[in-house]
Amino acid sequence: MKIVGICGSPRKDGNSEILLDEFLRYFEGKAEVKKIFLNKLKFVPCQECENVKKDGRCKINDDMQNVYDEIESADIVVVASPIFFGSVSAQLKMMIDRFQCQWLGINIFKTFKPKRKKGIFICVEASERENFVENAKSIIKNFFATIGATYFDEVICKGVDKKGKIKEKKECFEKLNEIYKKIGGKNEDNI
Ligand SMILES: Cc1cc2nc3c(=O)[nH]c(=O)nc-3n(C[C@H](O)[C@H](O)[C@H](O)COP(=O)(O)O)c2cc1C
Repeated sequence: MKIVGICGSPRKDGNSEILLDEFLRYFEGKAEVKKIFLNKLKFVPCQECENVKKDGRCKINDDMQNVYDEIESADIVVVASPIFFGSVSAQLKMMIDRFQCQWLGINIFKTFKPKRKKGIFICVEASERENFVENAKSIIKNFFATIGATYFDEVICKGVDKKGKIKEKKECFEKLNEIYKKIGGKNEDNI
């Protein structure tokens, strides 16, 4: 089994990354674990190219090429993002837009079929604004559908702003553990 965690926050050791790392830690030694810290990658936003390739892959040769490989080979994809101006981070949105080629491959050209997988969304925000989270969720649901992932579960943590504040939110860590068990993690043979 392979799990891929994507961190959309630019902040190292920030609230999203702390939660993502905690979740990925459960799988260490039991599954193949890959983590992608988007802010460290070199890639451009979608250029709306004409004559796109039909294999679900973008023709721009940058760090996104590895991201396609990692995500397509995953059984579980975990996306962690802070809310920025009522949406996901720019880094994450930029990655998601680069999956337009895959969306076209699936829905228009019918030449690409992603492997089925599970998708989990981790989201943190400073405020308690439900509409911001709902907005981010609808983007993530759209993304998960494009990579062949079911929206398996989510951890939404409100009221966290300062770096590391998330450590005070016990309920968010408990939710991570619940999701791990739901995946089958309590019985190591099952994951
Ligand atoms: C550019 C920017 C925009 C933000 N916009 C919002 C927002 O719209 N709503 C909100 O509740 N928090 C907002 N925040 C606060 C972050 O969501 C919050 O600090 C979060 O815990 C950061 O997560 P991180 O440590 O993983 O980066 C914003 C922060 C930044 C830097």
